[in-house]
Amino acid sequence: MLLAALPPRCCDLPEAPAGSFQVSGGVLTLRMKELPQALRISDEARKLKVILVRTADGKLAAVSGVCTHGGAPLVMNERHGTVICTSLGHSEFDLRGKVLRGPAPKPIQVYAVRETGGAVEIVL
Ligand code: FES
Repeated sequence: MLLAALPPRCCDLPEAPAGSFQVSGGVLTLRMKELPQALRISDEARKLKVILVRTADGKLAAVSGVCTHGGAPLVMNERHGTVICTSLGHSEFDLRGKVLRGPAPKPIQVYAVRETGGAVEIVL
């Protein structure tokens, strides 16, 4: 029964290339020719980690890429369309930030997203 103890299938995420985004006035603006299905946007100087996802209905969702349990990075769980912690706790969150599986004690941050003029804007 070892397989039953393994976490759901997950993947790492491509990173937004340096120079593809900027942060100004509390808004992150991302410009890429093509968006992958999911993307991590990291800005170490601002301690910012955001996961941007194109959902099955074609909309964009943006959530924090940091687990609320111990601060470990989150990755996509493609099978469930959720984000999952890379630590041994494997907390799991939906794209509205809700904790689906602990030990995470509270939801992750969810950001408003809009597409405008070939750019994606994420309100931080
Ligand atoms: S840091 Fe995510 S479950 Fe512990």
